[in-house]
Amino acid sequence: MTDDVLVVHGGTPLEGRIRVRGAKNLVSKAMVATLLGDSPSRLFDVPKIRDVEVVRGLLGLHGVKVTDGTEDGELVFDPSNVESASTDQINVHAGSSRIPILFCGPLLHRLGHAFIPDLGGCHIGPRPIDFHLQALREFGATVEKTPEGLHLSAPNGLHGTKFALPYPSVGATEQVLLTAVMAEGVTELRNAAVEPEIIDLICILQKMGAIIKVHTDRVIEIQGVKRLHGYSHRPIPDRIEAASWAAAALATRGHVEVLGAQQADMMTFLNIFRSVGGEYEVTDARPPKLSDPGQEGGIRFWHPGGELHAVALETDVHPGFMTDWQQPLVVALTQARGLSIVHETVYEQRLGYTEALNTMGANIQVYRDCLGGTPCRFGRRNFKHSAVIAGPSKLHAADLVIPDLRAGFSHLIAALAAEGTSRVYGVDLINRGYEDFEAKLASLGAHAERP
Ligand code: EPU
Repeated sequence: MTDDVLVVHGGTPLEGRIRVRGAKNLVSKAMVATLLGDSPSRLFDVPKIRDVEVVRGLLGLHGVKVTDGTEDGELVFDPSNVESASTDQINVHAGSSRIPILFCGPLLHRLGHAFIPDLGGCHIGPRPIDFHLQALREFGATVEKTPEGLHLSAPNGLHGTKFALPYPSVGATEQVLLTAVMAEGVTELRNAAVEPEIIDLICILQKMGAIIKVHTDRVIEIQGVKRLHGYSHRPIPDRIEAASWAAAALATRGHVEVLGAQQADMMTFLNIFRSVGGEYEVTDARPPKLSDPGQEGGIRFWHPGGELHAVALETDVHPGFMTDWQQPLVVALTQARGLSIVHETVYEQRLGYTEALNTMGANIQVYRDCLGGTPCRFGRRNFKHSAVIAGPSKLHAADLVIPDLRAGFSHLIAALAAEGTSRVYGVDLINRGYEDFEAKLASLGAHAERP
């Protein structure tokens, strides 16, 4: 196979401190929002990951000048010359990310038309975009599907609408927000997703001049405005990355401090982490003073020794247990005594990675039934979306091929926790969402190298 492989010598606890930057699943959308402004925007703490590069490339093609700011991780976006790009140019980014679908509303507002290439992203189920297209049509857009991609136009402009999502989809909620802010009139979105990344996107849009009310019961009301200006924003930290390192600390019986991790956005994870037997301490930020350099806040996670305990958990939309926290934590659950149950209710095919863990000695069975929780959309539909993890199991080294981003990180954790030397193929996929993960591994004392 290729040289895209990491050789991991397992069995050493991860020990040390790393820092997480702006959330991947906010930063990429915040970058799209810059298209809506009529003056420059500034985004801080942007991680160097593949999704950011893809969006930067697409913005550049549409005339947004993107430059590095003075601070490390700061990007400046100048949208004064937004222009059309050719389908050939845009298609260079086909299959590279799911973010291009969010260009629809902003490009329709700025140019009256949009071309969206084939989407990429992780293969964790069919990942349809029907809610997105339905919403865009409600606003008055016409959508033409062609073999090369989607062509959209808005011959009569975009108009506010009342719309209820069949499921609180993160992407479709963002699609509605990015379209409604400059549509004529009022939009009411029911059954909206309310993830912290969405609230942060709302904060950005509000900074730009939008009028958005978040009501109770997943209702968001947006009053369209005629113009928006640029923003300056420091994004919420990446709570998926933070939880991934926390799970790595637990599975390797280590101790990792994650600077930047925020308790409020991780409450559900922290409850499960404690139930499994992991310990954590939240360290509050201390602002710098003349006599004191201050301190960045974060969360320290560690394995206190002794046995871990089995748990039952169900992934869900916010404020539930995130689907992206599931894969790294399952590796730690292989070390817990008893039967743990994981019911995945967000994606229908997000447990395939457990096969690789079984080849390493784990004992995980997957089922079509909705186990241990409320029946979900996938029950009796032939999707193996519940897992029973029997532990503790001694993990041994194996050759692994990374299937997608989060499963990939769980493979990596398993290799770090296992006895012996594993070869993990396809590790470049991890760069899609984890900044500098190899340097971070090294700083935590992991023994991993490129051959
Ligand atoms: N769905 C539809 N139709 C649609 C849109 C969604 O049926 O038009 C379904 C999906 O198939 C899925 C469910 O709704 O079963 C939820 O999907 P959602 O739209 O919420 O996901 P997304 O916006 O595509 C984002 C994150 C994912 C994260 C999910 C859930 C980004 C770029 N991606 O995806 O993150 O798992 O929300 O929180 O923000 C990752 O970071 O590795 C990742 C996959």
